[in-house]
Amino acid sequence: MENFTSVADVSNLDQLVQQAISFKENPYQPDLARGKKVGLIFLNPSLRTRLSTQVAAQNLGAEAIVLDIGKDGWALEFENGAVMNGNKAEHIKEAAGVMGRYFDVLGVRTFPGLVDRAVDYSEQLLSAFMAYAGLPIVSLESGTRHPLQSLADLMTIQEHWTEKRKPKVVLTWAPHVKALPQAVPNSFSEWMIAAQMDFSVTNPKGYDLAAEFRGGAPVIHDQEEALADADFVYVKSWSSYEDYGKVPSQDEGWSFSQRHLSLTNNAKVMHCLPVRRGLVIKDEVLDSANAIHLDQAENRVFAAQAVLNQLLK
Ligand code: CP
Repeated sequence: MENFTSVADVSNLDQLVQQAISFKENPYQPDLARGKKVGLIFLNPSLRTRLSTQVAAQNLGAEAIVLDIGKDGWALEFENGAVMNGNKAEHIKEAAGVMGRYFDVLGVRTFPGLVDRAVDYSEQLLSAFMAYAGLPIVSLESGTRHPLQSLADLMTIQEHWTEKRKPKVVLTWAPHVKALPQAVPNSFSEWMIAAQMDFSVTNPKGYDLAAEFRGGAPVIHDQEEALADADFVYVKSWSSYEDYGKVPSQDEGWSFSQRHLSLTNNAKVMHCLPVRRGLVIKDEVLDSANAIHLDQAENRVFAAQAVLNQLLK
């Protein structure tokens, strides 16, 4: 694996998940990457990604150094050939090039602007780091994907599933007060398809995800029909891809409740966090034994550890 920006970077998915599970059983292996340096660059807030990746690096004997580049770094210019006479103090060519000389692996976290779909889906920032840093890049969530989250999600499903048949996994949209990126649902869809799950998506009309991420998985606009007999339900809010970044409806009938859970096969309920209680998922579900969101968050450490271990070898 040269970089970790999507499931397409993973040559053996099952092996990576098994590696993450084995790190959970025996996390502290400081000889694996002793003395290596991991840079973690954040343009956006984070609790889980930031902490879990630092713990993962420490477990491998590596040192993680965090820069809130959106707050503490210079404003970055991305345009090739720009005459930098505005408020951008440093070009990405130098910023990424310098960081490439300090670290062995670089993690980059950015959110989409949700204004211009072509810009967000071009992954300008991630691509620039890959072009100019000259070292392996880990996506800590980008404009279109959140692969470390998806690896932890797949690992969590495998841990909770003991039957021989493939589980039925349903991704369901939920309302939110803000327009949120499509990165988590895009990425989760890609990983479920790569893992050959029985996977479908349910959302109100106007919220269909880009077809390139859904890979032929059915989109069902009737939530009750979609949830029938589900073994895992992944609840997530996202803004419109079609009417880009807009929130065409906020139907609180889609807030995941005990009524929805009763339609499923006593499903495990997942969320990447942070979750707005009462709006996205009702307390009655989040506080029940069906909720496995804290397992997902815990598994972020071991997902990151499996990825860093491969990239630091
Ligand atoms: N799920 C996730 O990426 O959480 P943070 O935004 O807190 O990192």
